[in-house]
Amino acid sequence: MDKLVIRGGTRLKGEVTISGAKNAAVALLPATLLVDGISTITNVPNISDVKIICTILEKLGANITWHTPNTITVDTTHIHSTTAPLDMTSKFRASYYLIGSLLGRCKEAVVGLPGGCNLGARPIDQHIKGFEALGANVEVSQGKISASAKKLVGTSIYLDIVSVGATINIMLASVLAEGTTIIENPAKEPHIVDVANFLNTMGADIRGAGTDIIKINGVSKLKGNATYSVVPDQIEAGTFMLSAVATKGDLIIKNCIPEHLDCLTAKIIEMGANVEANGDAIHVWTSQRPNKTNLKTQPYPGFPTDLQPQMGVCLAIANGTSIINEGIWESRFQYTAELNKMGAQITNQGKSAIFEGVDTLYGAPVEATDLRAGAALIIAGIAAKGETSLTNLIHIDRGYENIEEKFRKIGANIQRVTEEF
Ligand code: EPU
Repeated sequence: MDKLVIRGGTRLKGEVTISGAKNAAVALLPATLLVDGISTITNVPNISDVKIICTILEKLGANITWHTPNTITVDTTHIHSTTAPLDMTSKFRASYYLIGSLLGRCKEAVVGLPGGCNLGARPIDQHIKGFEALGANVEVSQGKISASAKKLVGTSIYLDIVSVGATINIMLASVLAEGTTIIENPAKEPHIVDVANFLNTMGADIRGAGTDIIKINGVSKLKGNATYSVVPDQIEAGTFMLSAVATKGDLIIKNCIPEHLDCLTAKIIEMGANVEANGDAIHVWTSQRPNKTNLKTQPYPGFPTDLQPQMGVCLAIANGTSIINEGIWESRFQYTAELNKMGAQITNQGKSAIFEGVDTLYGAPVEATDLRAGAALIIAGIAAKGETSLTNLIHIDRGYENIEEKFRKIGANIQRVTEEF
């Protein structure tokens, strides 16, 4: 079993380059199923969630070539199955995009119920509502979702809850449908826009992604031979921005889109640190302990839930008492128990947590309870006095490319150690 050993007390300094967005890549790869041909995707994050999707696509009949660690060609000419291996699909969340893509292309799909981080209940009723509105029959039983349709016909779909997954899945299923599909109350995250841009590059007709209404005019066929670069990962960029705040550091974060991080930038400035955007780079620096602040996580452009734990580390060592209200997931405060082992004083009350800022965190053995919790605990370990050992890295490897190497390059003392048990 691997663990990260972090010797803390470092002020992070230097430059770090951000990878392509995990939550875009895990949708773009299934989206390649919609074309009967070749798609080349660049700036692909080299993470385990991407590798598992590639393996699933291969099992469905796709041919995948890795030209470099971040450039993939997917040839979906010879898709021979619409049943994705159930054991593999249940290992990660984004396997639900295989339903929309297979349904869109083949009019049928069988996929295991999605797994992924344990953040509380993660229903997919809005995805199903969308598929059914387009004319599919959907059945959920024995750990799998089966969807099929004679044909898919565009219609208006109002999402009762703003959902990233449902928005993308309905786009995937409706691109090749007859007529026009309208998604009302869609999610507006940068990866929604990225998936729409990718599909449009292949000849789809999607308008309004990133706004309150998305309109998809169905086309009969998508064109192959598209080359598309995955949008930079705003959550990875935000993770490094917050690592500068927590360690009184000075970081230039390159290959990101500063506008995607406006909300975090505003909070960081409120906390007394400096942020300057310059083209596709963001400079974050501070020499003081963060000021207290309160926040609530919300769909984009609100404060992202996926940066809540990393922000929690900054508030754990802030000057004063702060409150975070989690607006998306039921159980996204599991990391607070781990931070308390490091000397934080956080009280978790359901969907809120109260952070009484302490002067210093102290190294301790802790566990990554989910992906972003893992990233937060790395930051905590770097900021803390003494040694932290962080286990359960499987979560972190799902979503961050070369994370310890990136932190090492900006001064962190962090090693991956393999232990035999
Ligand atoms: N929801 C429903 N019904 C649905 C779908 C969602 O009630 O059919 C609820 C969820 O329970 C949640 C809220 O709606 O309370 C938002 O869920 P959403 O569907 O937006 O989340 P998701 O698509 O399952 C993606 C990311 C998550 C990120 C959320 C919110 C992927 C693969 N995952 O999940 O990323 O937290 O959007 O932004 O894109 C992460 O990267 O660490 C991560 C968990």
